[in-house]
Amino acid sequence: MIAFKNSIFHLSTDNTSYLIGIFGGQLINLYYGKRLNSVPEISDILPIDYSRIFSPNDINIDGKKCSTDNLTMEYPTFGSADLRTPAFSATYTDGTAVTRFEYEDYEIHKGKYDIPGLPSVYAEDGDRVSSLCITMSDKVKGVEAKLNYAVFEEYDAITRSVEIINSSNSVMDIDKALSLSIDFRCADFDMITLNGAWARERLPERSPLSYGTKQVESMRGITSHHENPFFALVDKNTDEFVGEAYGFNLIYSGNFVAGAQRDAYNVTRAFMGINPQNFKWRLEGGEHFNTPEVVLVYSDCGIGKMSRTFHKLYRERLCSGKFRDIRRPVLINNWEATYFDFNEEKILEIARTAKSLGVELMVLDDGWFGTRNGESGSLGDWVPNTQKLPNGITGLAKKVRALDMSFGLWVEPEMVSPDSDLNRAHPDWCLHIEGREPTLGRNQLVLDLTRNEVVDYIKSVFDRLLSGGDISYVKWDMNRSMTEVGSAVGGPQAQGKVYHRYILGLYEIMNYVTEKYPDVLFEGCSGGGARFDGGILHYFPQIWTSDDTDALERLYIQYGTSICYPYSAMGAHVSAVPNHQVYRTTPMKMRGDVSICGQLGYELDLNKLDDQDKECVRKQIEDYKALSDVFHTGDLYRLMVPVGNNAAINEFISEDKNTVIVCSYIMKGIPNAPRDYVKLRALDKKAKYKDQNGKVYTGEQLMSFGIKVDYTADYRSNITVYNKVN
Ligand code: GLA
Repeated sequence: MIAFKNSIFHLSTDNTSYLIGIFGGQLINLYYGKRLNSVPEISDILPIDYSRIFSPNDINIDGKKCSTDNLTMEYPTFGSADLRTPAFSATYTDGTAVTRFEYEDYEIHKGKYDIPGLPSVYAEDGDRVSSLCITMSDKVKGVEAKLNYAVFEEYDAITRSVEIINSSNSVMDIDKALSLSIDFRCADFDMITLNGAWARERLPERSPLSYGTKQVESMRGITSHHENPFFALVDKNTDEFVGEAYGFNLIYSGNFVAGAQRDAYNVTRAFMGINPQNFKWRLEGGEHFNTPEVVLVYSDCGIGKMSRTFHKLYRERLCSGKFRDIRRPVLINNWEATYFDFNEEKILEIARTAKSLGVELMVLDDGWFGTRNGESGSLGDWVPNTQKLPNGITGLAKKVRALDMSFGLWVEPEMVSPDSDLNRAHPDWCLHIEGREPTLGRNQLVLDLTRNEVVDYIKSVFDRLLSGGDISYVKWDMNRSMTEVGSAVGGPQAQGKVYHRYILGLYEIMNYVTEKYPDVLFEGCSGGGARFDGGILHYFPQIWTSDDTDALERLYIQYGTSICYPYSAMGAHVSAVPNHQVYRTTPMKMRGDVSICGQLGYELDLNKLDDQDKECVRKQIEDYKALSDVFHTGDLYRLMVPVGNNAAINEFISEDKNTVIVCSYIMKGIPNAPRDYVKLRALDKKAKYKDQNGKVYTGEQLMSFGIKVDYTADYRSNITVYNKVN
């Protein structure tokens, strides 16, 4: 609900409230947290300090002077009295860079506001969703900011996005336009960010917020392996189950900045949006600019509840298309089985065995096109290599389909190899700067998606590949960070727009292909998980989580990813041992038990397994088909997290609460082990639950006494299913 009374906007979800006040013509953030039953008078809750020295007095009410520098601001601008980190700054034709927005008016309407060209969470008929648009304006410069908010009541989430409008007759350059700025009247937070690198993505880091600014960011043109556009501010005592947690996530796939600034008066300013580095967005008179969306979640029951709120919203109202709601096929991917060294028969051999064990989809990875036999050449020339595949993709797909499997293909559509026909025909189609040698990454260049003809070309590649109906799954890869980001078109003024326009071009293509080919399942990928973000998830319901397929490593990666993103979004494959990334040998059972919670796949030559392991795979797939609904639509409780413990234990509860699955994984066996118990959560106290062995427990017993952690051996894993009985 959104209400406006006594100069206060009250945005409320079922369990949270967000208050914005109007004071001295400014928008003040008054509160975000647990739902309020009543809203006090603004004078009672305004965190105001009059006349602090060195905070210039830009507000004067009834002779009392104060400063926006000391207020908890809602969308601060650069250049006037608030001298903390601004959310917005622009340069005007007179060369000055001062903006001062004042409150103008507001509108409230049912449903969700629009952000043209950008992915966002959406409302469906019947959802209790409403939107607020607050207009602020700088009359001196003729610029307006429309602050858009949407309240997802039953999802307990609030979204924000800003539209900047140049209503003057002159041009202006936006230098920074963040999506979120929110000031908390408290500074005693810990900050959690998800950091890493290739093959070790999204490990949560928790550190006290100290004086100054802590931020994560990307300048790689992708969200990156290194940092993710997510962070949480949590109380010192907050853990998985207890305490307050605020989560912020940007629905965007390019350069971002996300952080928090702690000021001298114990105010914390959290901010998030497009990275201002090399961002200069020229607006002609009458033009407007939309920022990407940020999702805000508040939990009063720890980090776990914050994650569950994100998960449900993302599963149901961020992911889109038919695959959002159906079980996706168990796949086999040939990458770690063959790398570039394959031919039609080898692929079919893998497919046949996979089929016999229950796999449903055969995915052909990199190396099927041009003359590509290694990590160089042919990107852009999406023509089958007939030496490897004499019958082309169509012929192979036909043979795979004859096995009663569907067929999927890897592509890296945003790339071009220097040694490719595409590059020879269009040498200026890549991102580059005239006179500078473009830096290669994995021997390849990035196509300039700001150019319409390049966007059209990529669409035509998909039309060629997908219109025949041979392909029912696409793995969309992107294997480098961007450098020398410039475009051969548009002249000097276009250059500050390239990073963002690239992402708009990317979304245009993703939107086109997913709308035109709704029966094709797309999986996002970027050297593993360098683009694991809400922008991609809007179009593609699953993302390859990491190139690291080791079971133990994956426990950490999937744990960190689950802080914000649901398991239903995580591509998770069982691979060979010794593992190709860390050379560790883990049992087949452990590998399967780790992958079963995500989108299960296999990435090895199943023909090389002994009978025992093959039987284990067959059983895993059978279990997955029976249980994936609980993993992918149920609630996750992280009973024991892998960081700081010798085990990871997750509990999933089905939506109807009738099925409970406990997945436990031991990292390292302990001799003469301590007796640790974990207590199950959110069960019905009075109900009875029966496990696979027929043993019956009461909900109270499982929640009060818990279950014992079995540390007896390295890599011991267990999936226990409890069904509610009457
Ligand atoms: C990336 C992907 C891998 C694989 C290779 C192929 O690294 O993450 O899964 O597809 O590219 O080159």
